[in-house]
Amino acid sequence: MERLATTYLGLQLKNPIIVGSSPLTSSLDKLKKCEDAGAGAVVVKSIFEEQIDSDAGRMMAGTDEYNTHADAQDFLLNSSRNYYIDAYLSLVEQATEALEIPVIASVNCRSKGSWLDYVQRFADVGADALELNHFILPSDAKIDGETLREEYFDVVKSARKAFKLPLAIKISSQFTALANVIKQFDKMGVDGLVLFNRFYQPDIDIEKLAIKPSITLSNPHDYTLALQWTALTSAYLNCDICASTGIHTSDTVVKMLLSGAKAVQVCSALMLHGHAHIGTMLEGLVKWMDRHDAASFVDFRGKLAQKRMEDPSHWERAQYMKSLNVEF
Ligand SMILES: Cc1cc2nc3c(=O)[nH]c(=O)nc-3n(C[C@H](O)[C@H](O)[C@H](O)COP(=O)(O)O)c2cc1C
Repeated sequence: MERLATTYLGLQLKNPIIVGSSPLTSSLDKLKKCEDAGAGAVVVKSIFEEQIDSDAGRMMAGTDEYNTHADAQDFLLNSSRNYYIDAYLSLVEQATEALEIPVIASVNCRSKGSWLDYVQRFADVGADALELNHFILPSDAKIDGETLREEYFDVVKSARKAFKLPLAIKISSQFTALANVIKQFDKMGVDGLVLFNRFYQPDIDIEKLAIKPSITLSNPHDYTLALQWTALTSAYLNCDICASTGIHTSDTVVKMLLSGAKAVQVCSALMLHGHAHIGTMLEGLVKWMDRHDAASFVDFRGKLAQKRMEDPSHWERAQYMKSLNVEF
């Protein structure tokens, strides 16, 4: 459907629905399933710098004879690291060969660390772009906001210098002066911003009085934060915005496009309703475009972005003032 074509990170997408980095994109079969269901692009499940390092560390544990030999230690650590990196690169390579839609690799990094050494290899194996999933939980009361911000900027600047692949950063909304941070990323030359990531948060088992793992999927009302920030920033940026979190219906896709997004990412909706839901969302999008005589996204994308509104204050409202109160 030419009518749904969009560009994102300089890539041609047949439609704006991207399957986000998640268990839905963790193997070749699963990636293929996303393409078969009609996705416009896929973001491969992230490779985690933290996991590579901790698995390498675990592998070393108990191997006393190695611990006394620095050379052997380095060798073992590097072998373990290389094993994970090679496996991930091989998945990306197979995916780019098997799929016709763009394949975006994803790195989760903690700092401008060892991942920069292998990131160029993503281009060598044919990845169409790289999504950097970078988040520092601001839980250390000794570290102030300025220091954390600089750390993010450092990572993005280093990434931008290290390779030429199109680069998107997937961020959280947890920044002081978010608009300023977004503008800084844009100035650093990123090609896209994914607004926003949704993170794992632990839960409590009240019978065992213990922490329990929890996977809570988003719900269809969770989209408004991404919508507001897409609308507030899209028309002021050179880079593309890909909206993410809480995108479950075609109506929400339309809203994201109206606020200026080039594409959207979906995960929870597919986990809840299955891959066929991509088709349902695309059908709904086409029906809306028919109703509004839109031949392509050019006719309406960004129409309701803040910069283009007669009264820009609509997107700035954060308090439930009297006029917004409804009777309960
Ligand atoms: C089980 C699970 C695993 C995820 N793994 C990753 C990951 O490896 N890398 C990443 O960038 N995002 C990851 N995400 C976040 C999703 O890509 C997405 O940003 C988030 O779920 C919000 O989108 P949604 O509302 O459509 O689910 C994961 C989400 C879930 C639920």
